[in-house]
Amino acid sequence: MKSAPREKNDMIYPESALILAPLSGYTDWAYRRAARRCGCLFAFTEMVDCSSLVYASLRGRSMLYRGDDETFLGVQLVGAIPEHFAVAAKKLNEYDFSLLDINLGCPVPKVYGKGAGAALGRNRELALRCFEALAENSRFPLTAKMRIVHPEDPGPTVELAKGLAERGARAVTIHGRTREGFYSGEVDFAVIRAVRESLPGIPVIANGGIVSVETARIMREKTGCSRLMLAQGAMGNPWLFSQIAAGAPDPSLEEWKEIVRDHVADMVALYGEETALRNARKIVHDYLKGRGFPAALRAEASKLTALADLDALLAHARPAVTRSPSVRGICAEPRETLR
Ligand SMILES: Cc1cc2nc3c(=O)[nH]c(=O)nc-3n(C[C@H](O)[C@H](O)[C@H](O)COP(=O)(O)O)c2cc1C
Repeated sequence: MKSAPREKNDMIYPESALILAPLSGYTDWAYRRAARRCGCLFAFTEMVDCSSLVYASLRGRSMLYRGDDETFLGVQLVGAIPEHFAVAAKKLNEYDFSLLDINLGCPVPKVYGKGAGAALGRNRELALRCFEALAENSRFPLTAKMRIVHPEDPGPTVELAKGLAERGARAVTIHGRTREGFYSGEVDFAVIRAVRESLPGIPVIANGGIVSVETARIMREKTGCSRLMLAQGAMGNPWLFSQIAAGAPDPSLEEWKEIVRDHVADMVALYGEETALRNARKIVHDYLKGRGFPAALRAEASKLTALADLDALLAHARPAVTRSPSVRGICAEPRETLR
């Protein structure tokens, strides 16, 4: 089955859309819900290895769980074998998602080493064949997320994005770093802009280094992309969505506690208490990070085993030091409040 036909002016994301990036090990239903409470409308599952879907059933996979409240949910697939993309697409047709996205940017050695992710992004011919396999077999709209292919020459990045658009990609996200940049360092605005200008017909989404209202403004100004994808900037900081979209203030201490508690309670609903609290340690660390909380609190977060432990932690959580404003949009003059 072909992907859904594209209607005139049928944009998959509206102007100025803010999208929660797929984040392996993070963007489960609970994580997305925390972001949705802060105004996020567009989100993805964690990346799913399409080869792992070939022989296995999709039933009961928490990774693919979609909540009733999720009006938009994309699934991201990673792989390097066109036939596996075809099988995965057919299996996913049985479910209900807003779109499928192909991962052409993952830098992690165990993915890159198999020729997938950023390695596939550097192999245009195979990347396009994998995309075609999805297009021929999926009933969902298709998008792609890629990195900058070559550090000096915008040509290969533009050519890959154009090839995807010609084959029906409804949007392309550009993470403005090369594979060597992994997840940090300078973002190449000029290459994102070059892709934006070469694809006037579909949304080009800019990604990389957006950690505040100001960095979002700079990204939009320098790339010409109104649509942005947020990743590390929103980790432990889901308010970034409402701050960029509507100029919302940083949360008060009570609001902060509520969102941390709700996030972890949703994890418990998804995984059961033991697994949830083990996974929640890194999540709580992210919420504490950079907010002036004492080191002892971070140590406590590393030992969480029950929701009651989190309640105890939150009951006495109070920023200990006054910090200068940081790019993460965190407490500037905290004592009683994070505002
Ligand atoms: C922990 C972690 C997991 C990630 N997992 C994925 C993933 O599954 N799929 C993907 O396309 N990108 C993934 N990324 C990359 C992000 O989506 C994003 O492109 C990257 O972090 C750059 O944006 P940022 O500078 O705003 O964080 C991941 C990044 C991190 C830090």
